Amino acid sequence: MAWAVFIFYYKNILGKYYVNFARIYFRYEFFITEDCMRKDLLGLEGLSREEIEEILDTAAVMREHLDKGEINLDYAKGVSVVNLFYENSTRTRTSFENAAKFLGANQVNIAVGNSSVAKGESIYDTVKTLESIKNGIVVIRHNMAGAPQYVAKKVNARVINAGDGQHEHPTQALLDMLTMKRHFGKIEGLTVAIIGDIKYSRVARSNIFGLLKMGAKVKLFGIKTLMPKGIEEMGAIVCDSIEQAISGSDVVMGLRIQLERQTSGQFPTIKEYFNEYGITMERMKLANKNAIIMHPAPVNRGVEISGEAVDCEQSRIFDQVTNGLAVRMAIIKLMAEEK
Ligand code: CP
Repeated sequence: MAWAVFIFYYKNILGKYYVNFARIYFRYEFFITEDCMRKDLLGLEGLSREEIEEILDTAAVMREHLDKGEINLDYAKGVSVVNLFYENSTRTRTSFENAAKFLGANQVNIAVGNSSVAKGESIYDTVKTLESIKNGIVVIRHNMAGAPQYVAKKVNARVINAGDGQHEHPTQALLDMLTMKRHFGKIEGLTVAIIGDIKYSRVARSNIFGLLKMGAKVKLFGIKTLMPKGIEEMGAIVCDSIEQAISGSDVVMGLRIQLERQTSGQFPTIKEYFNEYGITMERMKLANKNAIIMHPAPVNRGVEISGEAVDCEQSRIFDQVTNGLAVRMAIIKLMAEEK
């Protein structure tokens, strides 16, 4: 942890080494063991099965409200939630925004490019400032693994991790589990195949932590350059082909190729990739009866998944987005109850 603090503290001074430092830090992130949904929600690694179940049960109630068109609720009246996104987002940012509004909370979005971050303000000073103007919950997305964890230790405001580098994306995995639970009525005993860019995926890591705790089996497949060494030590099964991964699976989850996080030479042409490794209707015939297709999105049609597979009856990709709203409402509600 000392390494994390050292690297993070010096990133403002040694800005040009920022990316390299983030890479170095990533090697150490396996040593981070955070408590999660106590004050903050930082990752699924430290959440217990009971805590995950409590969030999913609350999210199921929130989803019922949404399905009935009940969006003027007061579960978080008097709470202020601020979104601080250092990385692009459509789904996560807007669903946190709507979640806070629908629960009767005050909601603020910080446009990082227009804020004092652009003048060199550190993340700690930014969050401390947001806390000082009475924001009780700060939702943070950052391209550096460990940024929300670092800040959470230093402020009294509750911190929600909306995705930190390649490390974790806890609300995404929770919404994924809610989607599975709503379709199958359970998570225990399911076989979930996660296919694509595993190496750079915080979604894969959070899902592996969460799904294994909930009693599911997790299979992984990606081209060799996009599979991190030693990933099987997390408890997932590494497959040799996409067919092996899909065969006998209840859930087939595609992942976007994260070209923005890759160094060169890790990826063939898009056409080759889709032909060899894309999720298609033909390949989905290998999955279990009643299997569903999932993807955290944004989706690149014709790259990791065919357009037909995105839009087919088995696809839950847009339902996942609604479940994301329900999960974020649940987390804000649970935090508001403990304020
Ligand atoms: N799935 C996900 O995190 O999407 P956004 O990047 O649009 O938030």
